[in-house]
Amino acid sequence: MTTLTINGETHELDAPDDMPLLWAIRDLVGFTGTKYGCGRGLCGACTVHLDGQPTRSCITPISAVGQREVTTIEALADDPTGSSVQQAWRELDVVQCGYCQSGQIMAATALLRDNPSPDDAAIDGAMGGNLCRCATYVRIRAAIHAAAASLGQEVS
Ligand code: FES
Ligand code: FES
Repeated sequence: MTTLTINGETHELDAPDDMPLLWAIRDLVGFTGTKYGCGRGLCGACTVHLDGQPTRSCITPISAVGQREVTTIEALADDPTGSSVQQAWRELDVVQCGYCQSGQIMAATALLRDNPSPDDAAIDGAMGGNLCRCATYVRIRAAIHAAAASLGQEVS
């Protein structure tokens, strides 16, 4: 048995230690907002937070999570930074097909917590591992600036 804390709730999972966290989140716990893309840590679609740090859940075995708090897109609106990011995403109509976007939003939220006023280079550096087949990168960058501004933290 593995015990995971996901979005503030404790889950006892009867699963192999090497099960990827993504599988546990989606198939055992039922939070399907986190997506499977490459399965190899290369695209960012599966990004969740472990104690606030963006993490590729497809290559993280559940045995490696330990006591760290797992946060998925389903709980992000409860966080002021996450809520601002989601609001900016809506206002700037960032999403195209949407498949990559929960990973994008998780990565953007972690960026803004670490760097409240990122410039374009910082955004590109933090978000470069999150791929978007619909090429929404320009709107993602704009939305991160908008979220930073709405949080009252961006230096103009
Ligand atoms: S599905 Fe995890 S990085 Fe692509
Ligand atoms: S919005 Fe379609 S893959 Fe990013």
